[in-house]
Amino acid sequence: VDRGVTDIEGEKRAAAEAAAALVEDGMTVGLGTGSTVAYLLPALARRGLRGLRCVATSVATEVQARELGLPVEPFTSFDRLDIAIDGADQVSPDRWLMKGGGGAHTREKIVAAAADRFIVVVSSDKLVDALSPPVPLELLEFGLPATLRAVEPVRLRDAARSPDGGVIADHTGPFGDPAELAARLAETPGVVDHGLFAPGLVADVVIGRA
Ligand code: 5RP
Repeated sequence: VDRGVTDIEGEKRAAAEAAAALVEDGMTVGLGTGSTVAYLLPALARRGLRGLRCVATSVATEVQARELGLPVEPFTSFDRLDIAIDGADQVSPDRWLMKGGGGAHTREKIVAAAADRFIVVVSSDKLVDALSPPVPLELLEFGLPATLRAVEPVRLRDAARSPDGGVIADHTGPFGDPAELAARLAETPGVVDHGLFAPGLVADVVIGRA
């Protein structure tokens, strides 16, 4: 389906606004990263909720949230979240997600896993029949050449760093079963985390439709 940029942006906004409506006074809230989350933050700020405590999965989100008056704390002061809302690069029918287009997937997975309810907000172009490469990776700098060799085929993202200073790369090899690839990447030393999010993390997927 060929859709205009305006439709896609409208879909992102609609999904983000629907998710913002699910947040309640006093909640601890995980804020994701990306252009869809950039619509979530003003929608959340407009609600004027009391007693929110937010954590941010990237510097960009933290800066935008603070500018809008949303209170952001380091994710060291509490051990769980009521809700987390984030975008995705791909969503499969069985709710596997590909994330990390913005290189923030390690923080995003920590936040998703810590939340009672992890809500994914996407435009309809993110829906796919099956996940496909590339798979974003966050890698430790130490031993980088050895780690890259272990996860070939792989492409380094020029100068890209995660919010915590990790090296960002993309695994470009074809794969069938995301669970098998996720397990293989997770057990590779030097891989901090990868962008495959298992269905068990996902409570709801909110899809904007033009
Ligand atoms: C960042 C992410 C984003 O959630 C993902 O890339 C989707 O971004 P956008 O809303 O801009 O399409 O995983 O690491």
